[in-house]
Amino acid sequence: MSAGHSGNGHAESNRAAFEIDKIVASVADKPGALMPVLHAVQDRLGYIPPDAVPTIARALNLSRAEVHGVISFYHDFRSAPPGRNIIRVCRAESCQAMGAIELAAHIQKRLGIEFGQTSADGGYTLEPVYCLGNCACSPAIVVGLDIHGRVTPERFDEIISAISPRGTESR
Ligand code: FES
Repeated sequence: MSAGHSGNGHAESNRAAFEIDKIVASVADKPGALMPVLHAVQDRLGYIPPDAVPTIARALNLSRAEVHGVISFYHDFRSAPPGRNIIRVCRAESCQAMGAIELAAHIQKRLGIEFGQTSADGGYTLEPVYCLGNCACSPAIVVGLDIHGRVTPERFDEIISAISPRGTESR
C-alpha cells in the first residue's frame, strides 16, 4: 500500500501499542484468537500496524511469519492507515460481467491510485472486494458505509463529487 497517509508519529504509535495490548490481553487465552485479534485491531485503528505483528505473535504463541501470512492472505486486512474515504470495488464474476473491469480502470484513473493504495493527500483508499451480495445490481461498489449498484463510470464521478476528500466516511 502507498505511504501517502502515514499517521501522526510518536503519540499515534503509543496509542496503537496501547490499543493492541488491550485487545491481545482480552482474547489471548481463547482458542483461535488470531482472527478476532486482527479484526479487533483493524476495527480499532483502521489497520494493523506492522509493529503489532511481534506483539500479537508473542501473545498467541505463534511465529511472526504465521501472523504476517494471515494478514497478507486476507484482502480485508490493511497494513497501513486508510484514507478518509475507503472505496471498495467488487471484482467478482457477476460484476466483472457487467462492466466492473472498465469501471475499475476508470476509478483508478480518476483517483490516480491502484488497488491497495491510498492517495497522497490521504483522501481515498481503493480496495478490491469479492462479492458484496449485491450481484443483482452489478457492478457494485462501497463508498464509506454506502453500497452503490449499477455503477457506471459517470455514476462513479457523481458519487465521488458528492463526497469530500477531506471527509471522514471511511472504516
Ligand atoms: S459479484 Fe459483485 S456484488 Fe456479487
